[in-house]
Amino acid sequence: MSEPLLVAEHLQMTFASPDNPLEALADATFAVGVNEFVSIIGPSGCGKSTLLRILAGLATPTGGRVCLRGEPLTGPVRHIGFVFQHANLMPWRDALHNVMLPLELQGMPRQQAEERAREVLELVDLADFGHALPRDLSGGMRQRVALARALVYDPDLLLLDEPFGALDALTRERMNWELLRIWQARRKTVLMVTHNIQEAVFLSDRVLTMSPRPGRIDQEVVVDLPRPRQQEALYIPRFMELTRILRESLR
Ligand SMILES: Nc1ncnc2c1ncn2[C@@H]1O[C@H](COP(=O)(O)OP(=O)(O)O)[C@@H](O)[C@H]1O
Ligand SMILES: [Mg+2]
Repeated sequence: MSEPLLVAEHLQMTFASPDNPLEALADATFAVGVNEFVSIIGPSGCGKSTLLRILAGLATPTGGRVCLRGEPLTGPVRHIGFVFQHANLMPWRDALHNVMLPLELQGMPRQQAEERAREVLELVDLADFGHALPRDLSGGMRQRVALARALVYDPDLLLLDEPFGALDALTRERMNWELLRIWQARRKTVLMVTHNIQEAVFLSDRVLTMSPRPGRIDQEVVVDLPRPRQQEALYIPRFMELTRILRESLR
């Protein structure tokens, strides 16, 4: 691993409730290096989204801490971009204005914000769709707008919470390529939660697995497949072996 960008130390989250508190996360301890692509896989309800929200500074853990470049994280910061499972776009704003929104909120002059937004729309291959409303875009296109919105700040770290989970298999495959291309072009650090073992192996440098709730980071599998990854990677024996190892560790 390169120099760590993000370090999670014994993160723990219990949701308070008068009669039965719910322990969502028991212990998440791991690090993500600069420019690394790391995926987390775990069963439904094991605390993956809770973990990502903590890492984004959107939720405060009941135990443990997060450090970003050695500094404790205490709230949302600009260096982190977040993409949720559903695009969460503003329905009345076109693609361009959805992507511009974070910059507007930050008070960037309009023209400069528009220029930046057009750049990232081009990066996700949507240069011609700036004026389309979310309802006129396909699911894959909406997720790319959400990705563009997360990239518009040029964050160091991208947190992706099952970003392609709601898409059909072929669109999902295209989005994986798109993400690899962007990651390679922009040298981002990515931490992605996914349900899909093949997707995790294909994209990642390392895959972390989580136990059922209350979640803990269980195992780490280093993906020693060469980069840049080609479609053929899906058919080589080592790829299949890695997916088998992960499938077994999730059992
Ligand atoms: N804000 C909350 N209040 C109470 N319980 C929550 C809250 N958020 C998540 N949970 C519970 O925590 C557990 C883990 O949820 P989540 O992190 O969404 O899991 P995953 O993303 O792995 O499916 C679930 O049982 C869920 O119902
Ligand atoms: Mg989730």
